[in-house]
Amino acid sequence: MVGILITFDGPDGGGKTTQLGLLAEHLRRSGRTVRCTREPGGTALGDKIRDLLLDPANAEMAARTEALLYMAARAQHVAEVIAPALARGEVVLSDRYADSTLVYQGAARRLAREDLVAINRFATGGVVPDLTILLDGDAATLGGRLAGRGDADRIEGEAAAFHAEVRRGFRELAAAEPERVRAVAADRGVDEVHRAVVAVVEEFLRRRAYG
Ligand code: TMP
Repeated sequence: MVGILITFDGPDGGGKTTQLGLLAEHLRRSGRTVRCTREPGGTALGDKIRDLLLDPANAEMAARTEALLYMAARAQHVAEVIAPALARGEVVLSDRYADSTLVYQGAARRLAREDLVAINRFATGGVVPDLTILLDGDAATLGGRLAGRGDADRIEGEAAAFHAEVRRGFRELAAAEPERVRAVAADRGVDEVHRAVVAVVEEFLRRRAYG
């Protein structure tokens, strides 16, 4: 049996976590077995690495250290959660995955893309998402959502220029891989975004069933 890996990605404040939960409910109602997970994290080890990565006290962290920690969390995530669930034929929904590293550590931190692609391949063993939902929208709307959340973590607390690079990086990614990466406008009400996400996922599932 081969499952399906769907990832949600995009700039901070795009509502990925909410939309992932709503999609999971939708897919479960239609009888699918769904495993929800997130990065960095998704495992006990990964959650410890997440704490290191997001703690604003770790201001001295070098960009390469940061990239490798995200990758280390990902390697554990694939080994412990994603690959076994896919082998059981489940639908895995991940809140962020390898694309986040290409964009945050590549486009925004300016580490070499080819290095990150190679380390991603090593970390994931070649597990690539079947579909990636990119939630993006008006910068002020997304930024406003973040401001409403209270204390910023180490990445959220980066300057506006960093977040602008992140948004540009995600747009480039969607343009480079239009089949896999599907952009959904996130600067709308939760229900409206959910309907758009469901439309993209149902179309993907139909294509996959008949393709
Ligand atoms: P979250 O806020 O969506 O849970 O993600 C945590 C932060 O980590 C978010 O600001 C994006 C960032 N991040 C990276 O910089 N590189 C990565 O590879 C991943 C997965 C997340």
